[in-house]
Amino acid sequence: MAAIAPGSVRIGCRVIRDADEAHLLPEEARSIPARQQAMRRASGAARWIAHGLLAELGINDVAILRAPSGAPVWPDGMTGSLAHDDEMAVAAVAPVDRIASLGIDVEPAQPLPDDILALVAIPADRTDAVDRQLAGRILFSAKEAVYKAVYPLDREVLGYEDITVDLDAGHATTKTGRRVSLAYCTGPRVVVLAFVERGAG
Ligand SMILES: CC(C)(COP(=O)(O)OP(=O)(O)OC[C@H]1O[C@@H](n2cnc3c(N)ncnc32)[C@H](O)[C@@H]1OP(=O)(O)O)[C@@H](O)C(=O)NCCC(=O)NCCS
Repeated sequence: MAAIAPGSVRIGCRVIRDADEAHLLPEEARSIPARQQAMRRASGAARWIAHGLLAELGINDVAILRAPSGAPVWPDGMTGSLAHDDEMAVAAVAPVDRIASLGIDVEPAQPLPDDILALVAIPADRTDAVDRQLAGRILFSAKEAVYKAVYPLDREVLGYEDITVDLDAGHATTKTGRRVSLAYCTGPRVVVLAFVERGAG
């Protein structure tokens, strides 16, 4: 997974374990509305990764709160993103002087059901160069990652139809006019990283 990220982005993953909710700092736990234990566990696993990535950059013991919008709140000078599926949590962080915003998503490496693909894909999307079996899943994951990268910049809720993805070229554009770079891997899970480089989009 680290191989897909640009040099200024730190990225990590963790299999979600029992009691991972204990990794939520008290302020983080308070900022996350009461949800099922499995969701709190996933949020704890993602923050455990992010705390470690920030510590590598000398930023220790900083709570990553959940804003009312759902977006994570990063310490001054940093941006990042979190995601989790049923089994895996992922996180990415980067300094804002290099990367204006980040989005990440993780999904099982399985074909996307046709009914969901019909909701997600638009004719302008390009996936020709991608493994046929996983093209829909990567497209879905890319749109989620792009949304997470763009929301903190524009504060606008986007639908799948508002994001045009060109997986062949490795970028996406949004109806808000953002141009977002994309990188992905497919094993053992589909992970898509979306990033707005400083000075772009
Ligand atoms: C953001 C969103 C796409 C997340 O998808 P999800 O499948 O529920 O969950 P994921 O595991 O992929 O990601 C969850 C993480 O996303 C992050 N997130 C949530 N809302 C966010 C937002 N508005 N901006 C950026 N990141 C956000 C949080 O860090 C969250 O982790 P946490 O709950 O541990 O704090 C979804 O919750 C949402 O807000 N959707 C509304 C808009 C939409 O779906 N449009 C179609 C897609 S383009």
